Amino acid sequence: MSSFGKIYRVTTYGESHCKGVGCIVDGVPPGMALTEADIQPQLSRRRPGQSKLTTPRDEKDRVTIMSGTEFGVTLGTPIGLTVPNLDQRPHDYSETDVFPRPSHADYTYLEKYGVKASSGGGRASARETIGRVAAGAIAEKYLKDALGVDIVAFTSSVGKAAMPFIRDLQENDTVKPEFYDFLNTIDRPTVDADITRCPHAETAEQIKEVILKKAEEKDSVGGTVTCVIRNCPVGLGEPCFDKLEALLAHAMLSIPATKGFEFGSGFCGTTMAGSQHNDPFVKKNDGSFGTKTNFSGGVQGGITNGENIYFRVAFKPAATISRDQETTSYDGVVGTLATRGRHDPSVVPRAVPIVESMAALVIME
Ligand SMILES: Cc1cc2nc3c(=O)[nH]c(=O)nc-3n(C[C@H](O)[C@H](O)[C@H](O)COP(=O)(O)O)c2cc1C
Repeated sequence: MSSFGKIYRVTTYGESHCKGVGCIVDGVPPGMALTEADIQPQLSRRRPGQSKLTTPRDEKDRVTIMSGTEFGVTLGTPIGLTVPNLDQRPHDYSETDVFPRPSHADYTYLEKYGVKASSGGGRASARETIGRVAAGAIAEKYLKDALGVDIVAFTSSVGKAAMPFIRDLQENDTVKPEFYDFLNTIDRPTVDADITRCPHAETAEQIKEVILKKAEEKDSVGGTVTCVIRNCPVGLGEPCFDKLEALLAHAMLSIPATKGFEFGSGFCGTTMAGSQHNDPFVKKNDGSFGTKTNFSGGVQGGITNGENIYFRVAFKPAATISRDQETTSYDGVVGTLATRGRHDPSVVPRAVPIVESMAALVIME
């Protein structure tokens, strides 16, 4: 199925080299001001061809609202959104008629459906995420206007180059108080100030070096995106199966190329003592009830506690690489796959708005 959510339901459509991609969004409240200008900024942050660190496929990704609004106001009816695919080059992928790309979706799609899009990964392409980002932008607008919810994601590591808070957790079983200040204040202009989308200058430089080196070697490299959700009301999430962490994990692991999800202290919490890891309750300066530390990541018992929600998503190195790969053809013959096409040496900087959008879909629901 191609739908996500029940109350705020998003259905995406489109493949990498068809005429266009987009989505239908059901459940947008009526009477909300909405035009393309509310959606375009996130699509432009996701689009390919933004910098020397991303794929050179040049798509402007201009969105058109096809239905569900009139005079710039939502009608409460399904909103149809469409984005044309302009820079299609299906012939770039003719080698993949013979060889399924290692660690891409060619083999599994063909086995499952008996037929597949002839080029570019079909529904497994990152073009599919345009619908998610467009629907997420609408959700974000509603959440911001109605509740002041703020969602910001950023590149936290690429390869072995990682922001200091990750090293603090991994090596010292703790985070510095500045990490919590950082989560309170980080914003999108700061994230976008560097093409890596890493808001820590020293790490950003290392990340640039890593990505450019991999691009030069016709290879790819993975990394992580961290996301914070601020001002989320207390009480979201269900106690058992629909815990907020579980819903976020579902959303994040549905993004192409994801291989891991950790919430709050995540896997690093496993080496800490309970006495270090527990978040003591405090009455804060503004009179609100909260916690002194936040290893829980803003959720306890599956339910939001009013603290910042934060989590980290792991992205693998993009499967399509331009260097020769020894593999086996569909016919079972060993050979060399030399992929041409245009690829992201690291998907991480472009994944940032996708993570924000999926987070918005979960909180909206
Ligand atoms: C923003 C973004 C860009 C991507 N760019 C590429 C790419 O250039 N080449 C590639 O092989 N995969 C790319 N991917 C990943 C594929 O969409 C996906 O990994 C692949 O179909 C295999 O599926 P899986 O890794 O999700 O199992 C990208 C993913 C994202 C989120």
